[in-house]
Amino acid sequence: MTSVGVLASGRGSNFRAIVDHRGLNVLTGVEIGVLLYNYADAPVATIAEEYGIPARLVEHRDRSRLEFETEIVETLGSYGIELVCLAGWDRIIGSEFFSKYRWRIMNIHPALLPAFGEKGLNADFVHEAVLQYGAKVTGCSVYFIDVSVEKGPIILQKPVEIREREISLFPTSRRESVEILSDRVLMQEHRLYSKAIQLYAEGRLQIRESVSELENSTRRVVFVDADDNWEKEWTRKQQPFLEHQRELWASNKSVTSRDLL
Ligand code: GRF
Repeated sequence: MTSVGVLASGRGSNFRAIVDHRGLNVLTGVEIGVLLYNYADAPVATIAEEYGIPARLVEHRDRSRLEFETEIVETLGSYGIELVCLAGWDRIIGSEFFSKYRWRIMNIHPALLPAFGEKGLNADFVHEAVLQYGAKVTGCSVYFIDVSVEKGPIILQKPVEIREREISLFPTSRRESVEILSDRVLMQEHRLYSKAIQLYAEGRLQIRESVSELENSTRRVVFVDADDNWEKEWTRKQQPFLEHQRELWASNKSVTSRDLL
């Protein structure tokens, strides 16, 4: 059984999606051991309460990074956490944390890395930058955190085509256009993160070195050991989550939800 710890700072929709995958038995051989959050009023804490998942507040304010990360590592240790999933976590991972959980910390980013992965491009700023640039495809990426560079080896990505409507709406109705796109990407994030967790739990992710003679450099890449049968089986297993997700978004009365289904 792989015990997963989720670190989140805000809304928590990715946390909810992971927990729902577990509750619907889509994620197997995995338990969600603890949620760590770093703001007392973070909505994600309420979600943990709703699902009966242990949640611990670890505040970063008024203390050194070392103290903060030592508490995180100790707390994760006390829950026997093997894999850490950052889901809307707004702190940089320092060396203390990284060295204890090397290649065991995943993150999700709402764009196709390495594009639109620069520092500061988080939350809606990413989608704004994508639309501003005039890109035709965006998406989401799940990757392993690497302390030496801002982003680490990519595990999975899912492309999302940008609709002409979003592009044409952008100059006059920025907010609406960004909202629609960010929700469409978010739906895919919710589906993709659990897939990466399942692959990890089954020991199907290997990090290999890839040497580039052209650039005279070595980079780490993730090899995913999953064939077509595994993919088919995952698609079948994930159906209950997709149905649940459709219901959830359909009951959402926001403007953007109409564009999603
Ligand atoms: C998501 O878009 C995620 O990709 C990014 O932060 C956002 C978190 O949303 N890292 P939520 O808190 O999971 O709803």
